[in-house]
Amino acid sequence: MPRATTFGTSADAYDRLRPAPAPEALDHVVPPGARRVADLAAGTGLVTRAVLARPGAPAVVAVEPDPRMLARLIATTPGALAVRGVAEAIPLASGAVDAVLASSAWHWFDPPVATAEIARVLRPGGVLGLLWSRADPTVPWVAEVRGVGKAAADGSATLSRRGFDVALPPGHGFVDDLPDAVTVPWTRRMSRDDVAGMVCTYSGVLELSAGEQDAVRRAAREHLDRLIPGDDAVDVPFETVVRRWTRA
Ligand SMILES: C[S@@+](CC[C@H](N)C(=O)[O-])C[C@H]1O[C@@H](n2cnc3c(N)ncnc32)[C@H](O)[C@@H]1O
Repeated sequence: MPRATTFGTSADAYDRLRPAPAPEALDHVVPPGARRVADLAAGTGLVTRAVLARPGAPAVVAVEPDPRMLARLIATTPGALAVRGVAEAIPLASGAVDAVLASSAWHWFDPPVATAEIARVLRPGGVLGLLWSRADPTVPWVAEVRGVGKAAADGSATLSRRGFDVALPPGHGFVDDLPDAVTVPWTRRMSRDDVAGMVCTYSGVLELSAGEQDAVRRAAREHLDRLIPGDDAVDVPFETVVRRWTRA
């Protein structure tokens, strides 16, 4: 199974456990007065729902290739127009949207082809917003707990910020408005089992057998209990990182 299609194997857990973006982060990428926004690689609709919850929300077209993710999105996201499609062939007319958003997804795209497609569907002056929402890996206990999954999947427990260093291919008229990225910190209270379950929603872990995923979940829970002892839920520090380009 290609890694890009592993998420659908646990669409419900993904939707319940992975973070939606911080609402303030969307202020940077949903232009004032926007009427139509595309959520590319929309997954189960975490970003789509966050955009629809904004005052004066634009219409949102959620584009997602995996039918299992799309089914969850349709079930949980009334009000969105959900369509099956990929970033490299976006099923929208030219100039159709005021903004294209893609959250935790750029690394799955073929950048030259996707950039040309995004430029095509954006109106002139429209915005491309890339977002990443995750438990903050600069907090040592978060890095250690999340590292359990990474070590089981890739043999390396190092979490990096390199994914945010996106340079769009030239020639499509995009102006980089936030080259240094904006990081919005926030906190989410989660049960201990949910923190351990979240570790198992990343593609590398989802590729493992069910037994191996259970072992990752148990090990993540053990690390969490050792690092943050207690019976109660845990306040998990999250961050949403934002990059933005405007189409000339
Ligand atoms: C980590 S999930 C992110 C989902 C959602 N944007 C979020 O923030 O929760 C990555 C998503 O990218 C989708 N995907 C993978 N390759 C893609 C492509 N070439 N074009 C569009 N979506 C793609 C996957 O099916 C998956 O739903």
